[in-house]
Amino acid sequence: MTSEDLAAVGLRLDIDGPVATVTLDRPDVRNAQTPAMWIALGEIGRTLPDDVRVVVVAGEGETFSAGLDRAMLDPSASLEAGQQSVVGLLALSDEDASARIEEFQRGFTWLRDPRFVSIAKVRGHAIGAGFQLALSCDLRVVADDAKFSMKESTLGLVPDLTGTKPLVEHVGYARALEICATARVVPAEEAVRIGLATASVPSDELDAAVADLAAALSAPMPGVVPETKALLQGAADRDLDEQRRLEREAQVRRFRAVAAALAG
Ligand code: CAA
Repeated sequence: MTSEDLAAVGLRLDIDGPVATVTLDRPDVRNAQTPAMWIALGEIGRTLPDDVRVVVVAGEGETFSAGLDRAMLDPSASLEAGQQSVVGLLALSDEDASARIEEFQRGFTWLRDPRFVSIAKVRGHAIGAGFQLALSCDLRVVADDAKFSMKESTLGLVPDLTGTKPLVEHVGYARALEICATARVVPAEEAVRIGLATASVPSDELDAAVADLAAALSAPMPGVVPETKALLQGAADRDLDEQRRLEREAQVRRFRAVAAALAG
């Protein structure tokens, strides 16, 4: 996709060496998200250069993302060309509506790819789809004014953009249920305490903190971090024998890669 295509759906992609930054760029509506944006996010994931090792997801301005653009839920709203509304799902069969949502979800799932580590850089609000986008990333580094809230329940909806599994993994079932069902705000300090965010820093230090982290994640030999991510990602779902088999196999690959690098 060209930068014009991305701009048309409120996105920016900047690639600087091994670090790609995807920015939600609709600050006038607090980086509210649309189906067209989700489809484009999935396309970014499919076409990202192989040598990208870190993906930073950020929001332009003081708010990470206010979640779903409310115009997408308004049957009377006039949508820009290329936009599809969420209300349009009502006209589809259950199977077709579910398939359409799966397309939307691909805008979120690519951030789990072991090829790179994804970091959500969160200032201000991360609401609904915004919270789920942050949850799709491996790591969340937040400004001390960050506020997460899963507002779907207040609209009569459930979180369906791939956020429920990582939320349970990070904070546990009971806390996840309480956060989703009450739609309350989780502030930065609590987000760090309950394992949702890895660090909270003053807002004016956030860019530097994320840049330092991205540099540290890009420093090891190519291949090490992807192997490590793949090992850790599924560890909770595997038994010890399966996990230690995967550790051995990964290590044999690493020994060979290190030996080849030393020989070359
Ligand atoms: N969709 C469309 N426009 C939005 C928006 C949204 N989700 N959130 C904010 N905006 C617009 C406002 O309408 C306003 O536009 P105007 O300047 O034209 O009036 C502009 O952004 C600024 O908004 P505020 O003045 O409210 O800005 P703020 O900084 O004081 O507050 C906010 C920011 C806390 C995010 C507040 O705007 C807000 O609560 N927004 C609604 C959040 C929301 O309920 N999102 C839906 C979440 S559920 C979800 O995402 C569903 C799903 O996935 C299925």
